Amino acid sequence: MSATPGETKRLLEVDSLVKEFGMRRGLAERLTRTEVAPHRAVDDVSFTLDRGEILGIAGGSGSGKTTLARCLIRLIEPDSGEVRVDGIDIRAHKGAELRELRRRMQMVFQDPYASLNPRMTVGAALHEAGKVHNRPGSDNEAAFVSALLGRVQLTDRIAARKPRELSGGQRQRVSIARALAVDPEMIIADEAVSALDVSVQAQLLNLFLDLRDELGVAVLFISHQLAVIAEVADRIAVMRHGRIVETGPTKEVFANPQDEYTQALLRAHPHPDPRKRLVA
Ligand SMILES: Nc1ncnc2c1ncn2[C@@H]1O[C@H](COP(=O)(O)OP(=O)(O)OP(=O)(O)O)[C@@H](O)[C@H]1O
Ligand SMILES: [Mg+2]
Repeated sequence: MSATPGETKRLLEVDSLVKEFGMRRGLAERLTRTEVAPHRAVDDVSFTLDRGEILGIAGGSGSGKTTLARCLIRLIEPDSGEVRVDGIDIRAHKGAELRELRRRMQMVFQDPYASLNPRMTVGAALHEAGKVHNRPGSDNEAAFVSALLGRVQLTDRIAARKPRELSGGQRQRVSIARALAVDPEMIIADEAVSALDVSVQAQLLNLFLDLRDELGVAVLFISHQLAVIAEVADRIAVMRHGRIVETGPTKEVFANPQDEYTQALLRAHPHPDPRKRLVA
């Protein structure tokens, strides 16, 4: 994607980010008045993301992937370090500016119910998301909804359904459409395809690639499944115990992993036979 005038290629810069959680003291610690060291869920994490780029964040359960994502959109405040969007520290944003920042960085979760109201039809939910942020075209509900559904390869009929009346794959497409309703520059997909079966995963991975290529959306693609990251990510960062232990172009890291943990992950989740790639 070529950046429009006035925009630089670099969208996001994360510098030495740290997030600690206090540990609950057990009975023994309380009786002996022992202090328990806080747990560093995100430990000195730095990376960048360009417009139109897909960065895969890999790592086992508890490695800090979701905590990192939550810091980026200020759902939680990091203890130290800096997150800059277009060169501006996100802590500088308050009120309307923070709302605008959150519009630009949308999250898609593993469980679509987390972002979809079960009582609303798909059409109403997509329309509402656009209206709240005054998106161009959102005055015409039918056309606005239809364009979004088309973008995620769903038919207009889906607009009248409620989330529970959809398949898992359709529901996740609707979550993506809801994110797109506000014209984000970046999507943080946190285990967005992990609960789906392999054929549906492949379709959704293709959709993310289309969004990158056609809309220039940047994606932070979080997954514990290396095979999935191998399909979509331009670059990969591998997390362990809150730290990035290895990072580089996806092909290079997969061909020649340097870190022992990456090597172990690759043994545990072998890269699929390239002749049987998930994505055509
Ligand atoms: N609100 C919280 N309070 C205390 N500890 C937390 C909190 N949220 C996360 N943690 C801890 O931080 C660490 C990282 O958790 P996180 O959810 O970021 O991992 P993850 O990589 O997303 O794991 P998964 O692959 O299972 O989703 C874990 O040890 C977790 O128990
Ligand atoms: Mg997580």
